[in-house]
Amino acid sequence: MKIPQDKLVLVTSALPYVNGECHIGHLRTYVPADIYVRMLRKMGYKVIFISGSDTHGTPIVLSAEAEGVTPEVVVERYHEHFKRIFKALNVNFDYYGRTDSVSNHKRTEEIVENLIAGGYVYKKKTKQAYCNTCGRFLPDRYVEGRCPYCGAIARGDECDQGCGKHLEPGEIEEPRCKICGSAAVFKEQEHFFFKLSAFAEFLASYLDTLGGTLNARNYAKEWVKRELRDWCITRNLEWGVKFPGRDDLVVYVWVDAPIGYISFTEELLRERGEKGDAWARYWKDNEATIIHFIGTDIIYHHCIFWPAMLKGAGYSLPSAVIASGMVKINGKTFSKSRGNVVWAAEFLERFHPDTLRYYIVTQSSHTKELDFSWDSFFMRVNNELVAILGNLAYRVLTFAYKNFGAVPGGEIEEEVKAAIETARDDVIRAMEDYEFKKLVDAAMGLADFGNSYFQREEPWHLIKGGESDRRRCATIIKNALQIMKSVCILLEPVMPEKMAEVWYQLGMKTDIHETKLEELMSPIEEGQKLNKPKMLFQRLN
Ligand code: 2FM
Ligand code: ZN
Repeated sequence: MKIPQDKLVLVTSALPYVNGECHIGHLRTYVPADIYVRMLRKMGYKVIFISGSDTHGTPIVLSAEAEGVTPEVVVERYHEHFKRIFKALNVNFDYYGRTDSVSNHKRTEEIVENLIAGGYVYKKKTKQAYCNTCGRFLPDRYVEGRCPYCGAIARGDECDQGCGKHLEPGEIEEPRCKICGSAAVFKEQEHFFFKLSAFAEFLASYLDTLGGTLNARNYAKEWVKRELRDWCITRNLEWGVKFPGRDDLVVYVWVDAPIGYISFTEELLRERGEKGDAWARYWKDNEATIIHFIGTDIIYHHCIFWPAMLKGAGYSLPSAVIASGMVKINGKTFSKSRGNVVWAAEFLERFHPDTLRYYIVTQSSHTKELDFSWDSFFMRVNNELVAILGNLAYRVLTFAYKNFGAVPGGEIEEEVKAAIETARDDVIRAMEDYEFKKLVDAAMGLADFGNSYFQREEPWHLIKGGESDRRRCATIIKNALQIMKSVCILLEPVMPEKMAEVWYQLGMKTDIHETKLEELMSPIEEGQKLNKPKMLFQRLN
């Protein structure tokens, strides 16, 4: 999707449940989103980038119960943890909020009241799983059983190990209580429902125009074609946003979580001192392109529930949903309970954050499954970052530093200009297609070209020659430095710290993080003093 240049852009990244530590499965969504935002800014777009902690729902309450603490304790701990990890990885949200904020409670109430006023919410008696042993209703993750659609073992509200479908209360077969393990029964109880079925026509045409990755759009279209059941939006829980006028019920977490996208926009703009209704430019007045980064497991929520809610409450609609494929570890399904997991904190204790950012986007294309293995990580670092990128930077910079000390004079050659232009065009195309692997391939292709150019021209022979050889040598080095500068600009979104190091070694005075793609074609300044080169990456064994 091409984003109109004159529009504001809002990019969101799905809100993690803060009931445990951040792992590589999470990062598969956040890192590409951050890369996308950094590159959009390089392309000249005005972007705000938000996310936050999903603090409600049974994932949080169950973890708190298991630990014997309040939900607040769990939320506080992991909210801070996620913030630390994002900072360490240079995932730079403009705002990272939390869904238990006052403004999110208010915005959720306002939207639910709006939906009620529009006639989209009704009360109905419904079957809810109940545990006779524990003497309580079992919302969502409190119950486990079989998915009625595919037969896989499923959670109360989601077939997480099978077809991925959202499940309504009462739908799960052979329900068991997650707390005590006994068979659950179904009991009737009154709940509130959102008339999702009224949005079938709207969703069908909306999804036809929705940008983003095809996996998201196609999956959602299938479900709209099959059947849209009304959606139970209340739960018997203490922790959450109270349903208006009902102290005994909270709204389902999937109501207040995406509303966080709106509240965090409000909170950010307030923090920036903008007018009280500045957020409305994004969410009411269609002045912004709204882009959601999510994992494939929550396509249904973002492409069906969320646009229907927004439409029903009179809000602006997202323009694109970009869904990353799931993560496996050594070919096996990612599982915290089975210990098949790679924790972000442990990873970052051993390796540079940029190597992880690079790996995440290059190991597979964005919508495909990513199979993590240490072998493949080591291979990418050694064969690509060390052998191609690190090699180019070190060879060129060492030669230039030793023999010239500053950027020499000379024209940028046509073949070098063409290689940079091709890389730039491929990067832009990759952005439009959400192909982050191709984006990196294009930039690494330019580094590869740089290595061949340097090798072919053999400047080490020329430097020892006469006046004209030395002049030719200067031109080659100038061109090689220009390639280096361009590679830096193109790869900064992927490896912001490492590229800032090269930028410094090149003697650039500007801020690489603020540098736009336009800079690619402006020649590196003659006479600019170079700084002492340092190896960029270490080989991993
Ligand atoms: O699936 C999850 O981890 C949810 N916490 C994602 C919420 S995204 C958004 F809608 F809030
Ligand atoms: Zn029980």
